[in-house]
Amino acid sequence: MSCSWLFVLLLFICAEYLVVHCAARERGKKGCPELKKCLEPFPMLVDLLEKDKSGALATLTYGVLLDSVCSKQAALKLCLTTSPCHSFKQTYVGLAVNDTLEYICGEGRDALLSEAGCYSRDDFEWGTYQCSRTMRLETDIATLQDQAGKADKTRFCRVFDNLLKCIHVNVERTCSSKAANFTRSVFGKTIKAFAKKIGCPFFKL
Ligand SMILES: *[C@@H]1O[C@H](CO)[C@@H](O)[C@H](O)[C@H]1NC(C)=O
Ligand SMILES: *[C@@H]1O[C@H](CO)[C@@H](O)[C@H](O)[C@H]1NC(C)=O
Repeated sequence: MSCSWLFVLLLFICAEYLVVHCAARERGKKGCPELKKCLEPFPMLVDLLEKDKSGALATLTYGVLLDSVCSKQAALKLCLTTSPCHSFKQTYVGLAVNDTLEYICGEGRDALLSEAGCYSRDDFEWGTYQCSRTMRLETDIATLQDQAGKADKTRFCRVFDNLLKCIHVNVERTCSSKAANFTRSVFGKTIKAFAKKIGCPFFKL
């Protein structure tokens, strides 16, 4: 009993260490300034991706601002393809912003505007934050086990699947099923590039 507790604690400490250590290494490398410049017009999406701040979506519920952000979509695509970046994390942030933008400017636009009241609620942000936080801890542990050769890639896919289910349940409870579908799709877009790369079956499309 106490031994397994110690093991779990050790895992968490190691995972935390890896995250901090890797983040420091990424910063030490080229910070991909060109790619960061591509993302400058989308601070709310970068917040959503890097800080799990789903409330950042609320700023996009103003039609005029949404249109302005969406008008920069083509420029982003071009900018991403012409900005070399060898940082794993930065590359995925760029792809995720691209994927998220495509959804909220297209298929997701209606649910973003019609359920606007939902995305500024504190319990909306809090609920989705808890889901993301759990995912991050689980992916840290999966990363650790992967490096120790003990995890298969499907472990990551399960963690992502759980994240999306968690988001849906939470938002359906606080807001509506329309808002829940929308938010699940948005979070799906934020992890799509990574999930596709590791070959998660539900991200093949
Ligand atoms: C951005 O997303 C669009 C639509 O999904 C895709 O066609 C395009 O290739 C993406 N751009 C990059 C640089 O990945
Ligand atoms: C939510 O998504 C499910 C499955 O994709 C769909 O059947 C349902 O009609 C959607 N609900 C709303 C309110 O859009």
